[in-house]
Amino acid sequence: MPLILNKMIENESQLLVWETTENQEDIEFLIQNPFSIAAALKNIHNPKRIREKLITTLLLHRALQTNNPIELEYDDFGKPFLKSFPIKLSVSHSANYVCILLSPDKIPGIDIEIIRTRIEKLAEKFISPKEFGELEQSHPIEHMHVIWGAKETMYKIYGKKGVDFKENMSIEPFQYLEKGQIIGRIQMKNFGKEMDIHYEKISNCMLTWGLLEND
Ligand SMILES: CC(C)(COP(=O)(O)OP(=O)(O)OC[C@H]1O[C@@H](n2cnc3c(N)ncnc32)[C@H](O)[C@@H]1OP(=O)(O)O)[C@@H](O)C(=O)NCCC(=O)NCCS
Repeated sequence: MPLILNKMIENESQLLVWETTENQEDIEFLIQNPFSIAAALKNIHNPKRIREKLITTLLLHRALQTNNPIELEYDDFGKPFLKSFPIKLSVSHSANYVCILLSPDKIPGIDIEIIRTRIEKLAEKFISPKEFGELEQSHPIEHMHVIWGAKETMYKIYGKKGVDFKENMSIEPFQYLEKGQIIGRIQMKNFGKEMDIHYEKISNCMLTWGLLEND
């Protein structure tokens, strides 16, 4: 049962990453709360989806340190929220990794993605020509993953549809390191923000996250 990352950010936000090795029964045993388990399993049938939803619930119980029932709900755009707890959250999963970012007052966004060379084939869909020109030739795959994760993170913070990843979002040029902080921008008709996005290579994944001041 590997919780591979559990850290506080800016003293109040919490980021957790779990690498799933357990089967459904093991995860349910770890959660121990029948209501939370039933809520996580509602209308879900795919075994991978079941594990993702259960691990998300387990991470929420751990982070919130509660045995009270937890039910993750979604707004009309698919953005998750918790009705019974005064906390905002963001969720991501890739392969057997699941992560959550929780914040009491900022708007969180998180993304995790297994690092794969096939990102090169998708890159044209989300990297602008300017960003392509700034890609580092020594780590192109990792560099692309940071851009992808940063834009997914901003998308989840914004939370609504209609975002064009090349037209409405941009990433300031950066030098790729295994861990770092970059600047991202999102410009929609009624919403424009510049945000600090953090990234970290963890295991064989790229993890990105951001916290936007709620104004
Ligand atoms: C919804 C989306 C963000 C999911 O991303 P993904 O990489 O497939 O999956 P992730 O595991 O990182 O994230 C999934 C989680 O995002 C969250 N999510 C879904 N819609 C969301 C929204 N509108 N706002 C915030 N979070 C959202 C959910 O919590 C979901 O997990 P859950 O269903 O288990 O609770 C993504 O598919 C999407 O729509 N992206 C933007 C549009 C796009 O596809 N652009 C393509 C440019 S190339």
